[in-house]
Amino acid sequence: MIQNRWDLVKKYLEFFKSKEHHEIPSASLIPENDPTVLFTTAGMHPLVPFLTGQRHPHGKRLVDVQKCIRTGDIEDVGDEVHHTFFEMLGNWGLGDYWKKEAIGYSFEFLTSKEWLGIDKSKLAVSCFAGDDAMGVKKDIESSEYWLKMGIPEEKIVFLSKSQNWWGPAGESGPCGPDSEMFYWAGKGEAPKEFNPEDKRWVEIWNDVFMQYNKTKDGKYELLEHKNVDTGMGVERTVAVLLGLDDNYLTPGFVPIIAEIEKLSGKKYDDHKKAFRIIADHLRASVFILGDERGVKPGNLGQGYVLRRLIRRAIRYGKILGINGDFTVQIAKTVLPIYPDYQELHRNHKIIFDELQQEEERFGKTLEKGLKIFEKIARDDIITGREAFLLFQSYGFPIEMTVELANEKGASVDLEEYNAEFKRHQDLSRTASAGQFKSGLADDSEQTKKLHTATHLLLEALKRVLNFDVKQKGSNITPARSRFDFSFDRKLTEEEKKEAEDLVNEKIQAGLEVKREELPLKEAFDSGAMGEFGAKYPDIVSVYTIIDSTEPRGYFSKEICTGPHVKNTRELGKFKILKEESASAGVRRIRSVVE
Ligand code: ALA
Repeated sequence: MIQNRWDLVKKYLEFFKSKEHHEIPSASLIPENDPTVLFTTAGMHPLVPFLTGQRHPHGKRLVDVQKCIRTGDIEDVGDEVHHTFFEMLGNWGLGDYWKKEAIGYSFEFLTSKEWLGIDKSKLAVSCFAGDDAMGVKKDIESSEYWLKMGIPEEKIVFLSKSQNWWGPAGESGPCGPDSEMFYWAGKGEAPKEFNPEDKRWVEIWNDVFMQYNKTKDGKYELLEHKNVDTGMGVERTVAVLLGLDDNYLTPGFVPIIAEIEKLSGKKYDDHKKAFRIIADHLRASVFILGDERGVKPGNLGQGYVLRRLIRRAIRYGKILGINGDFTVQIAKTVLPIYPDYQELHRNHKIIFDELQQEEERFGKTLEKGLKIFEKIARDDIITGREAFLLFQSYGFPIEMTVELANEKGASVDLEEYNAEFKRHQDLSRTASAGQFKSGLADDSEQTKKLHTATHLLLEALKRVLNFDVKQKGSNITPARSRFDFSFDRKLTEEEKKEAEDLVNEKIQAGLEVKREELPLKEAFDSGAMGEFGAKYPDIVSVYTIIDSTEPRGYFSKEICTGPHVKNTRELGKFKILKEESASAGVRRIRSVVE
C-alpha cells in the first residue's frame, strides 16, 4: 500500500529499474540552456537535447523524479489540487521502446499486485483523435494495446489536440500525441463508461509518444528517433490512492498545515485558501532557494517569482492573524518531508537566512503599504502610477496589488503600470551606464585587461570543469576581478592550476580580440555566449578571441559591453588569488593580472 510520496517514488523507480531503466537525478529547477522559460516545468524539459538526437550518457532507458515549478498556476493556488511546486515521475525511452512497451509498463505498474495493485475497473484512458491539419492520424495503435491489456472499449475515449497532445515545452521543439490514464476517485464502483468531463475521473499519468518536432514556423516534422516521455504527478497520485480529494491532506502537507494551525491558532477547515497558499508558496520557495542553482529574491526573472511567492505567503499569514515572522518556522517543517533532496539540507542555512531577510524587508513596508492601498482603492481603478508606487516604495509585487484590488472589486491599469515600470528601468540603466564610464576613467587600462581575462577564464573553466559552467556575475575594479560561476563544489588545486595555465597559454599566444556589432539574434546564432538572465538591447557587441588552432576558429566569443584589450598579450600574467563559495551552487574566483 502507498502511504506517502516516498512509497510511490521508491516503487516507481524500482519498477522501471527492473525494466532496465537507469535512474537519473532530478535536474535543477532553473533551466540551463533555455532562456525562454524561467523554471523547469516538466520532466522532459532538461532532456530536450536527448529527445532531439543527442546520445544520453546513461543510455536509452531512463527513469527519474523531476522537481518542477509552474508559475502559470500561482494565482490558482488555493484550491484542492493546484501547486506551484510539484514532483513528476517519468520513464523515458530515447529512440528505444515505443507504444506497446510504454503502455504495457504503465498498465503493469498501475495494476500488478506487486506494484500499485489498482483494480483495473477503476481505470480509464484517453488517446489522440488525430488532426488533419497537423497531418497526424488517430492513435488506433495505442487504443488497441489498452484493449489487449483488458481496458474495455467504453473506458477508452479519443480526444483532440487540446487534450491529448503534449508539448513543445516552449514555442518549438519535441512534442507528440499522448495517452492519459485516469483513476476513479468517486465513491463506490466506477461507472461502466468513461466520461472525461466527470471530475471524479482524475488524470494520474500521461504517456507521451514524442515523435514530432514543432518548428519555429509551426510545422510538425518527424524527429530523428521516436521517444517515450511519461509524467505522473506524485502528490495527486498519492492523494487519489489514499482516497483524499484534497492534496493538502496528504502526508506531504500534514506537518506544514499543522504548523500553520499552531502559529495562527486557526483551523485549516475554516481557512483553507489561506492555509493552502502559505503551505504551497513556502514549500516552493524552499525548493527554489535550496536549488543547486539557487536563486535569491529580487525584482527580475526567477528572483521576482520567488519574491512574489514569499510575499504572498506573508500577506496570507497576516490575514490568518499570525503575529511576527513565521516563514522560517514553516520552512523547517518542509525539509524533513524531503530527505532525498540533499541540496535542501546542504543549503538549509541559505534557505532560512534568505526567508528571514525577505520577511524582514517586506515586514517593514507591508502595513504601511496596505494603508496606502486602502486609500487608493476607494476608486474603482488603481492607476498604473499608484500600483508602481506600491511596488517601488512598499515592495508590493504587481500581482499582489491586482489580487488586493480584485478582492475589493477594483481593477488596476496594467498598461500604465508597465509603461511606468519600463520608464523607470530605462532611467536607472542610463544612470548605471554613467557610473560605469566614470569608474572606467580611473584606471581604464587595468580594468580592460581584467575584462579580457574574465573571458579567457570562463572558457578555461568550461574546459577544465565542464561545459555547463555558466557565468553568474562579475565585478571588476582596477585592482582585481571577482568572477562568479555556476559549479557545485570546491575546485581542487590541480583544477585551479590547470585553468590558470590555460589562460596564460592563451595570453602568451598573442591572440587578437575582435569586436563587432550584431543584431542580438545573429549574435546568439553565431555561437556567442551571453549571461543567463541578462536583458540585452537589439544590437549588441560581440568580442571574439581569435585562435586559429581551435576548431571553431576562436577560443571565446561573448556578448559583452567591453571594453577589452586588442591582443591578449597585453595582459601579462594571470593569477588566481582565491577560489571560494559565493552562494548555493555558485563559486567565486578572485584574480589579478600582473
Ligand atoms: N511531459 C508530459 C507531461 O508533462 C509527460 O505531462
